Amino acid sequence: MTTETAPAPSPVDAPTSRPRIFSGIQPSGAPHIGNDLGAIRNYVRLQWDYEAIYCIVDYHALTSLHDADRLRLQTREMAAALLALGLDPERCTLFVQSHRPEHTELAWLLMTVTPVSWLERTPTYKEKKQNQPEDVNHGLLSYPVLQAADIIIYKASLVPVGKDQAAHLELSREIVRSFNNRYGETFPEPLAVHTEAPIVLGTDGVRKMSKSIGNAIDIFAPEEDVRRQIMSMVTDTRRILRTDPGRPDVCNVCQLHRSFGDDYEEIWEGERTARTGCVDTKKLLAERVLRHYAEPRERYRELMADPKRIERILDAGAERVRPIAQATMAEVREKMGLR
Ligand code: TRP
Repeated sequence: MTTETAPAPSPVDAPTSRPRIFSGIQPSGAPHIGNDLGAIRNYVRLQWDYEAIYCIVDYHALTSLHDADRLRLQTREMAAALLALGLDPERCTLFVQSHRPEHTELAWLLMTVTPVSWLERTPTYKEKKQNQPEDVNHGLLSYPVLQAADIIIYKASLVPVGKDQAAHLELSREIVRSFNNRYGETFPEPLAVHTEAPIVLGTDGVRKMSKSIGNAIDIFAPEEDVRRQIMSMVTDTRRILRTDPGRPDVCNVCQLHRSFGDDYEEIWEGERTARTGCVDTKKLLAERVLRHYAEPRERYRELMADPKRIERILDAGAERVRPIAQATMAEVREKMGLR
C-alpha cells in the first residue's frame, strides 16, 4: 500500500473539478461484512471520481459509548480497517472527527437555527431513547446537528450513506435552508447518495447485520470464527429436508453469494433444484469470504501492529482539511455577527 510518504495535494491548494463528497462512519471497531457491503466498498470506489473526505465520527460515538479505552481502540480498528479495505490516503482524506474541533463549534452555531421539535421527531432519536433509556443524553438529541456540521463545514454536495441515514440527511438539508434563510446563501444543500447494496441481513436472516445484535459476520476475526459465524447462518426456514427445493430469494446465504462471486445464479439454481444443500452453500460462502478478505486481513494485521503509522495518516488527514474548516468558520462567524 502506498502511504503517507507523498501526501496528496491539499484540496485547497489544488482545487479539483471533482465534486466533493463527505461521509462519516461510526468507530464501531473492526467492521463486519455488512459495513463493507453497505458503505466501505462504496467509499473505496468513490475515491477515484470524487474529492472524497471520510471521517471517523468519535464525537458522535460518545452519545452511546462512555469508555475511553474502548473508544480509542475502536477508532484505531476502524481506521486500520478502512485503510486495509482500500481507502488510499493519497486518493482521499481520512481523519478523525475530534481532530477537527471546528465541527463542534459549527454544530453549536447550527443549533441556534434548529427548532427542538425537528430533533425530537427524528426516528433515530426515538429509537435511541428506547434502546438506552438510562442514558438519554443531550448529545443524542443534537446528534443530527453535529452530522449536518460535519458535512457542510466542507460544503460537500454529496453524501454517500446507507438508506438508514435518509432522515438525518433530510434534517441536514432543513438546517442548511434555515441557516441560509437567516444569514444569506452560505451552504449548499447536501444530497444523499445511497449505496446500491440492499440492507445486509445478519446471520439470523431477519434483522440488519449489527455488532450489537450479535448477528454479524466479522471480516478480521480469526478464520475459525468467521467460518463458525457463516455456518450458523439461518437459511430458508421452510427447507426442512436436504431434498426439499430451496428458495434462494429468501435465503440470506444465497443473497450474500451475490457479493462474493459472479456465479450466484448458478448457485441459486443448485438450491432451487436441491442439487446442493444449505450446508454446501454455506461452506462455499465461508471459503469465498475468507479468500476475498485474505489480503485486507494481512494489511489490517500489519496496520494494527503499527499504531504510529495509523496516527500519522489520520493526523495528515486532519491537517489537510483544516484550511477548509477554518475558512468556513471565518465566514460563518462573520455572517452571524461574531466578528
Ligand atoms: N450518523 C452516521 C451513521 O451512524 C454517521 C455520520 C456522522 C455521518 N456524521 C456524518 C454520515 C456525516 C454521513 C455524513 O452512520
